[in-house]
Amino acid sequence: MEHLAAGLAATLRPGNAVLLAGPLGAGKSTFARALLRAACGDASLDVPSPTYTLVQTYDAPGLVLHHYDLWRLDGPDSLAELGWDESRAGVVLVEWPDRLGALAPADALRITLEPEGDARRLTIEDGRKPSFFEKQKPSAAPHLRQPGAL
Ligand SMILES: Nc1ncnc2c1ncn2[C@@H]1O[C@H](COP(=O)(O)OP(=O)(O)O)[C@@H](O)[C@H]1O
Ligand SMILES: [Mg+2]
Repeated sequence: MEHLAAGLAATLRPGNAVLLAGPLGAGKSTFARALLRAACGDASLDVPSPTYTLVQTYDAPGLVLHHYDLWRLDGPDSLAELGWDESRAGVVLVEWPDRLGALAPADALRITLEPEGDARRLTIEDGRKPSFFEKQKPSAAPHLRQPGAL
């Protein structure tokens, strides 16, 4: 999963939205942590779950990422107070994306995690252009630029 998260991190561009769907304990925060560590180029980066703060911001080389956990969100109106519109200039990573309601970006990269015993089934639906499955321009982050990063 860390390799996949790093591969996805290399395809992230300002304005991208990554939606992490799945039930409690599915591995959304674990996936977000691996992706943020890869994006920041720091394998031991502290990535707390934003369960209470609802959002944590990371200044990665060439990219700002905002990690949201909307489990405790009161309603889509509260998103404005969290700086949702401003954060869309960078990358947003969203746990419990169903809470976004009408604010859910249509061109998102959606990752669904489902527990299957000790393993996880992971589904990727990429509405971005170009998508994860197409040839990418090099990442703005120097450490994600080398061939074979994917
Ligand atoms: N790919 C995986 N395979 C097996 N266990 C995993 C995987 N990803 C996460 N877990 C385990 O599932 C538990 C819950 O993970 P977490 O990321 O906090 O879930 P969520 O954010 O979806 O509630 C953790 O104990 C974690 O070690
Ligand atoms: Mg979580």
